Amino acid sequence: MTTLSTNVRTDTAKPDTAQPTGPSRDPSAPVLSVRDVRISDQAAGQEIVHGVGFTLKPGTSVGIVGESGSGKTLTCRAALGILPAHFEVTGGSIEIDGQDISGLSSAQWTSLRGSTISAVFQDPASYLNPSIHVGKQITEVLRVKKGLKRREARRQTIELLHAVQLRDPELVYGQYTFELSGGMLQRVLIAAAIAAGPRILIADEATTALDVTVQAEILDLLADLRERTGLALVLVSHDLAVVAQLCDEVLVMRQGEVVEQGPTHQVLHHPLHEYTRLLIAEHEQYGLDKFLAAEAAEAAEAAEAVEAVEEDA
Ligand SMILES: Nc1ncnc2c1ncn2[C@@H]1O[C@H](COP(=O)(O)OP(=O)(O)O)[C@@H](O)[C@H]1O
Ligand SMILES: [Mg+2]
Repeated sequence: MTTLSTNVRTDTAKPDTAQPTGPSRDPSAPVLSVRDVRISDQAAGQEIVHGVGFTLKPGTSVGIVGESGSGKTLTCRAALGILPAHFEVTGGSIEIDGQDISGLSSAQWTSLRGSTISAVFQDPASYLNPSIHVGKQITEVLRVKKGLKRREARRQTIELLHAVQLRDPELVYGQYTFELSGGMLQRVLIAAAIAAGPRILIADEATTALDVTVQAEILDLLADLRERTGLALVLVSHDLAVVAQLCDEVLVMRQGEVVEQGPTHQVLHHPLHEYTRLLIAEHEQYGLDKFLAAEAAEAAEAAEAVEAVEEDA
């Protein structure tokens, strides 16, 4: 079991030599394997998701993009063991940390969720209790999931609020949801989601409701957590620009099908499917422009370097 101080390190924390993964764990083994997963609405007798697959290694991220209703959230919920009533995984398999999830009991799910796999969604306020200080709610997660005593749980909560780059953690700790902006609330939710040191974080439209600047800040925060703690990310958005900024691999979904999948730069520069081309054309927005510009700059730099070497020779 990893400890919070090794998983979520604040800038002011002492360097810690403990490894974030146990000695028996292969650090490059996938933390999440989704293989040809099919999801059906049993009440309607209809298959809704027709085969989704990807593998996620520690410190990497995969993006799922596609129009509303394409099956992105159902795919996430299947991996979290929280499909809506009547919905079932009717094909394929999901492994979390090498463990097939199909036979898990609800007690096993309870111990897995939060501690190994965690999630943040759109509308953070609806996941927090409006009449309890936000800090107290994270403290509660730590007490339940990690069995911490009150004082230690509070200390670690402050550390977490600091890790998600909230400027005054002590102040925020004692605030109510109505006192915080949407961006601050999403940071609080991320702090709660990573409190028990999960290896996988699913962010499903987590920045959708935020304005572009705050959205970019939250994406930077996720990238930072991934780099510092080896957190593996599943980033879901209807906006290609969002996944382009952060993901190594991208899946494009439409009507329950993966129409295209591959390394992000490849999909963006050489989209094979008409629908992907449409998404790219639609999203000539901040994030995607930035991504494409950065790619172009990198390519130019590489070309210059090659020229320099050739001139030297
Ligand atoms: N709780 C639910 N009850 C009935 N239908 C649902 C439910 N959740 C999702 N669906 C249906 O499943 C399909 C995929 O939904 P979802 O995975 O939420 O799409 P996305 O996240 O890509 O917008 C949609 O057609 C939606 O109507
Ligand atoms: Mg959704």
